[in-house]
Amino acid sequence: MTVSGSKNAALAIMAASVLAEEPIILHNVPRIGDIHTMVELLNDLGAPTQFRNRTTVCIDPSHILELEAPYELVRKMRASFNVLGPLVARFGYARVPVPGGCDIGARPVNFHIDGLRRLGANLYSEHGLYTAVARNLIGSTIYLDFQSAGATQHLMTAACRAQGVTIIENCAAEPEVVNLAEFLNSLGARIEGAGTTTLHITGVDRIGGGEFEVIPDRLEAGTFAVAGAITRGDILIENAVEEHMRPVVNKLEEAGIELTSDAHGLRVRSADQPRPVDIRTNPHPAFPTDMQQLFAALLSIASGTSVITENVYESRFRYVNELNRMGADIRVSARSAVITGVPRLTGCPVAATDLRAGAALVCAGLAAEGMTEIVGVEHMERGYENLTEKLQGLGAAITGGSNTGGGHRLP
Ligand code: EPU
Repeated sequence: MTVSGSKNAALAIMAASVLAEEPIILHNVPRIGDIHTMVELLNDLGAPTQFRNRTTVCIDPSHILELEAPYELVRKMRASFNVLGPLVARFGYARVPVPGGCDIGARPVNFHIDGLRRLGANLYSEHGLYTAVARNLIGSTIYLDFQSAGATQHLMTAACRAQGVTIIENCAAEPEVVNLAEFLNSLGARIEGAGTTTLHITGVDRIGGGEFEVIPDRLEAGTFAVAGAITRGDILIENAVEEHMRPVVNKLEEAGIELTSDAHGLRVRSADQPRPVDIRTNPHPAFPTDMQQLFAALLSIASGTSVITENVYESRFRYVNELNRMGADIRVSARSAVITGVPRLTGCPVAATDLRAGAALVCAGLAAEGMTEIVGVEHMERGYENLTEKLQGLGAAITGGSNTGGGHRLP
């Protein structure tokens, strides 16, 4: 199977495109629910945006007219909050509703707001709507309390149009942040340090247009790696970039899964029951929070006890009840899940509470004996392109949006 473009990189790049004064062409954009929401948002703002072919999106932000993002769209997707900074940087005014919490935690926006204030924007909120005003943003030093991916992307983008130099310390170093920095630099921005924890951004007067390619989705690749491992299969994940997946590859190897990487992608082979491993999530390059649910599914059939500690979100274990319903033995205490491996899972009806929880249940369903029926597939459709078809292509017995056949080994 071939990995699609990165959801989180594409969303950040599309939100940042409102800073540009000329058309943009983006390649390798996944056709998923969240991207369609972002397309709608950009169209709403007066930046005509559409898919030109299966994976290419054209955005024309030259004549943005609307400086207020609609609540219905921001409510659906947190990434849309990131148009606030670039809009105020370019037009001096913007209004964007607070995105609100979700099933994986409260997810406040205080780092975004504090950072924009450090850049000189005047920000106030009324009835859940943030208004930002600034004649010009002014370069400043911003220290992030936590290496937030979204705040790093948002502030880095706004700072491209600030006067003078902005330094963002303790910033996120995710591949998606690097991809965004490369995109902005290709349009004329001057960002240095992407991929480290300190960014130096020298403001420019104008951000132009151009053509750019989104990186492959490391989280989708990781999901398929777990699908291969949990079914004791042998699969090739084309386009996977191993360099972006080191913490995941490392833990899979520790669990006894065989991985080899070459120019075509990542090959995953597994013949035995996985070994238990302990995992602590943290910002990149540590183990990604978005993969812990998938590993919980894999480790639920390991030959011993594993502990997963979640350090990024305060409540990202809601899926555990569903895995336990399938026969897993997982106990959650504060930020840790203690997973005692069981010989096998059994299929039953379960509910996906969020995107990655849903993917974890799909993987569990592939390995389980009998049929697993998953409700809440709309969560998965937000972030995975053709998940069913791609798994079918690997030999999995999975149908519709909502059913997975169990007990199947990937070839
Ligand atoms: N945080 C704050 N204040 C802020 C911003 C973040 O307290 O102003 C906290 C969050 O509540 C969280 C932590 O900082 O506890 C990290 O959040 P971060 O800002 O890094 O997350 P994000 O940018 O909102 C992106 C991805 C998430 C992924 C996280 C962590 C996108 C669209 N989303 O969210 O992806 O989990 O980074 O890597 O890029 C997913 O793909 O399933 C997903 C949820």
